Amino acid sequence: MKSMHVGGANVFVLLLMGAANLFAVFQLLARQGGVEPRTAANALETDTRTLDVKKTLDDAVKSTEAAGAELKAATAALKQVKEEVAATRGSSSDCESVLDKLDSQFDARRKARQEIPFTINPDYPQGTFDKWEPEAVCFADERFGNTARYKALGDGPKFVCGVDFLAKKAKKEGCLVYSIGSNNDISFEQAVHSIMGCEIHTFDPYIPKEKFVGNDIAVFHQWGLGEDNSTQGPTFKSAATVMKELGHTNSAIDIFKIDCEGCEFAVMPPLFESISKGIVKVNQVQIEIHRDALKENTTVLEGIFAAADRANLRIFHKERNQWGCMGYMCVEYAFVNEKFLREVNGEYVCHRV
Ligand SMILES: *[C@@H]1O[C@H](CO)[C@@H](O)[C@H](O)[C@H]1NC(C)=O
Ligand SMILES: *[C@@H]1O[C@H](CO)[C@@H](O)[C@H](O)[C@H]1NC(C)=O
Repeated sequence: MKSMHVGGANVFVLLLMGAANLFAVFQLLARQGGVEPRTAANALETDTRTLDVKKTLDDAVKSTEAAGAELKAATAALKQVKEEVAATRGSSSDCESVLDKLDSQFDARRKARQEIPFTINPDYPQGTFDKWEPEAVCFADERFGNTARYKALGDGPKFVCGVDFLAKKAKKEGCLVYSIGSNNDISFEQAVHSIMGCEIHTFDPYIPKEKFVGNDIAVFHQWGLGEDNSTQGPTFKSAATVMKELGHTNSAIDIFKIDCEGCEFAVMPPLFESISKGIVKVNQVQIEIHRDALKENTTVLEGIFAAADRANLRIFHKERNQWGCMGYMCVEYAFVNEKFLREVNGEYVCHRV
């Protein structure tokens, strides 16, 4: 560091000297510019001045060359310092061990939570979702759902892990988003389209395709998610069937956003089971869970989280909805696949961002 500083100062002094010499040249040239009768004395003076100019120019060239050499040396020193800094940042095995530590911490939190007994107290609905708190940290977690980035306020936006990661992925190999339950509110889809550029599929059994307002940015399906083979009314399909029919079984769904007023208890456990069995891949799930749909059945609520555990999904965000649910009647959860989380956090820990 020290030698580089000295080198930098030398370069500066030499450059100053070069500039001063050049300035002298300009001054001489300016003086020569005046038109005078060309007498012998005059001519002699002009020749002397020309010699002066030449000498000054030679000096300028010399000091510029010296400055060039100093600059080269300083650049080499800087390169060495940069290499030393990079070396102290840690090897890739160091950053893998940080990620391992985070994973074991997240595992420990999940394990501790699984040991907590769960009951629903009908007289204390505020406590229904207390057992499930975020257990993992996504370093690139943000509230998302407005085309103006970082301005996603109010009911509707969701917490998403790795927006920039997915924007990069969209360019490289594509990125896939499912939005279940639309009600013709497409603000989330618009944000995904403009900020991440993913392929989007929107599902709602109660809106005909031509009435859907987002046909230019999303592929709409007038399907509900639930159990296969419902015979009456609108078409319902399981998530696994939908993915098979759309040819997505070999791709990962990067964001699976679901808000369908209670259908989550029918849709999610089978989807989580398909993930556990390796039939489908989902990188993150944003889900609103509605207490009303539980009918005080503890098995149903525990079942959804237990299935998420088996699918290697971690809770990384929880938001109690106070807009229409008093803060406890419905809660937004965000789950992220363990491997995907490690990749996103790895961008930070391993200096890849
Ligand atoms: C149920 O639906 C699935 C997927 O659409 C189909 O493959 C299967 O044959 C159906 N089963 C019955 C009994 O209709
Ligand atoms: C709770 O839900 C589970 C799963 O759907 C069901 O098997 C069970 O019978 C329900 N229990 C009660 C008390 O309704």
